[in-house]
Formats: sequence, structure tokens, C-alpha cells
Amino acid sequence: MIGTDVHIVAELLKSGKNIAIPTETVYGLAGNAFDTDAVIGIYEIKKRPLFNPLIAHIGHWDMAERLSSGIPEVLRQLALKFWPGPLTILVPKSDLVHDIVTAGSPDVAIRMPNHPLTLQLLQLLDFPLAAPSANTFGGISPTTALHVEQQLGAAIPYILDGGACSVGVESTIIRANAENKIEILRPGGISAELLKSELGYLPELLTHSAVPLAPGMLKSHYAPAIPLMLGDILQLVNEHQDKKIGVLSYNKKIKHPSIIYSEQLTSHNDLHEAARNLFAAMRKLEGSGAEIILAENVPNHDIGIAINDRLSRASA
Ligand code: TXA
Ligand code: MG
Repeated sequence: MIGTDVHIVAELLKSGKNIAIPTETVYGLAGNAFDTDAVIGIYEIKKRPLFNPLIAHIGHWDMAERLSSGIPEVLRQLALKFWPGPLTILVPKSDLVHDIVTAGSPDVAIRMPNHPLTLQLLQLLDFPLAAPSANTFGGISPTTALHVEQQLGAAIPYILDGGACSVGVESTIIRANAENKIEILRPGGISAELLKSELGYLPELLTHSAVPLAPGMLKSHYAPAIPLMLGDILQLVNEHQDKKIGVLSYNKKIKHPSIIYSEQLTSHNDLHEAARNLFAAMRKLEGSGAEIILAENVPNHDIGIAINDRLSRASA
């Protein structure tokens, strides 16, 4: 069921159940990170391969200290600055963190989400919540409770409804390298420019080949059920006019007789609005009856870098 009762959800989680939680980025499929059966439940419900590790969600700084054998100073500073918020830090795990959460890695990913209901829920628990995005593996991330209901409603007893996600793309995942320089493993809600304002330098965005097994690094991810092509929309429309076309544009309305449905991410030039609308727009296009989705990149700065990352994965 869909509801807003954090106390019911806390009891379900304490008894080892998996439920969906809202965050500012996307909805998560949560379970007690200290309960291996609850963690296995997440992988099973999501049909996620066991080699793809989970983020531990916390509500208190103290819990970060407990989950790690030592948080590098630079990551501590960034977490204190941007938490609660769409930033995930990768740090050496402590013995409290089971291998199933990290998929055997010595590092654990931790984040404090910025959503009032979920923060309230975390205060009621003495364990962190392991939670990937609440979609089936490889699919489009959910940004409303209804999206979760449509995909996972039958498999979980409760979806905590926190409204539409205010950021709309997943958290930025960072780590510190051997020289204590920050590296971005997945671009997300906290932009490289924002990190630069704290660090004094622009952190490096690692490429897929540099981190074969890391964050959303599987080629086809966030993928709609019909093909999505990325490029110059007008040109793509001309090449595909024999098909029923769905269009995902940034801020322009595109007209053509072959276009049966179109979604515009923002009406002006607002990258944050575009990020909020991205996954819902992809879902609507998926269900629109179109045979192909033609999309374009958004301006490649700020949160636009995360949007373009998701678009290119959706087109893989
Ligand atoms: O905004 C978010 O981060 C959302 C909300 C629910 O918090 N969560 C999310 O989880 O996007 P998920 O599982 O869909 O993506 C997390 C990514 C995965 O690609 C995973 O490979 C990476 O984080 N990850 C998690 N733990 C890791 C670890 N120990 N080492 C390397 N990568 C890790
Ligand atoms: Mg995901």
C-alpha cells in the first residue's frame, strides 16, 4: 500500500521487511542494512545482480563513523557541508558492514538523504537502510510513489509517499584517491562545480573504463522499454519518419507529423527543472505508444552533466 505513516514503516523494517522510501533524488527500495536477509530481499525484488553494491542511508553523522573504519578528512568535510543531500561518499567499511551490502568491496557507499519523512524514519531506527533506486534492474528510476507502485507494488508491503522527488536524478558518488583528491564515480545531484566551490579544484569525473564495476556503470541503465536515440532531434526525426516517434526535448517544442507524443524537460532554460522531470518524462514516453524515442542532450554543465549521463545510458 501507499501511505505516509513512518511508524508503520519503522515496524516493518525492524521485522526485516523491504519497503520503498522517498528521497530528494529518487525513491529507494529499503531494508535493514545490518540484516543480511533483508539485504538479500532487496537484490531479489529488484532482480539486481549480486555484484552491484548498495548505498547505506543514514540519519546521523555518528552512523557514518560506525560504518567506516576511517573517513578521509576531505570526505568528512564534503559530507558535513552537503548532508543531508544528494551526495554519496565511498569510504573504507567497518566490520559492521556485511559483504553483501558492498558486494565484497572493502569500501561502503554512505549517504544522508534530504527528505523530511525519510529523515524522520531514520531517527526511529538504530540501523542504516540499504537502498538502491526502487525500480527493477536496468529500468527507469522512480520519482513518485506511483512509479514504485507500478513496478514493485506487488512485491512490497508499503510505499512511503513523500511526493515527487525535488532533485530527480540520483546522488553524486565520490571517493578520495591515494593523493586525497576527490573523484566522481557517478555525476548526480551535487554538481562538480558545487564540489569545486568547497575544494578549490574541479574533481575528476571518472570514465566508465576507469571504474568497470562502479556506480550505474553498466552500459544499459535507466533504459526505457523502447529504443532511445540521442542526437539532433530534427535530423533524427527525418531519418525515422516511417515510425511512430516520441520526442524528449530540452526546452523547445518540436513539430512533425510522425511525432505522436512529446515531452519537454523545461519550458525555459532551467536545468534543475529538467532534472526533476527527466525520469517521469521517460516513463510517459515509454507508455505513449511511440516505437522510438528521439532525445537531445541538455547544456553540459551543473546538474546537466548528470542528466546527459542518464540520457546516454538510456540510449545504450
Ligand atoms: O540518489 C541515490 O543515490 C539513490 C537514492 C535511493 O538514494 N540511490 C541509488 O542507488 O541510486 P543505486 O543502487 O540505484 O545506485 C547506487 C550506485 C550503484 O551503481 C552502485 O554500483 C554504486 O552506487 N555503489 C554502491 N556501493 C558501492 C561501493 N561499495 N563501491 C562502488 N560503487 C558502489
Ligand atoms: Mg539505480
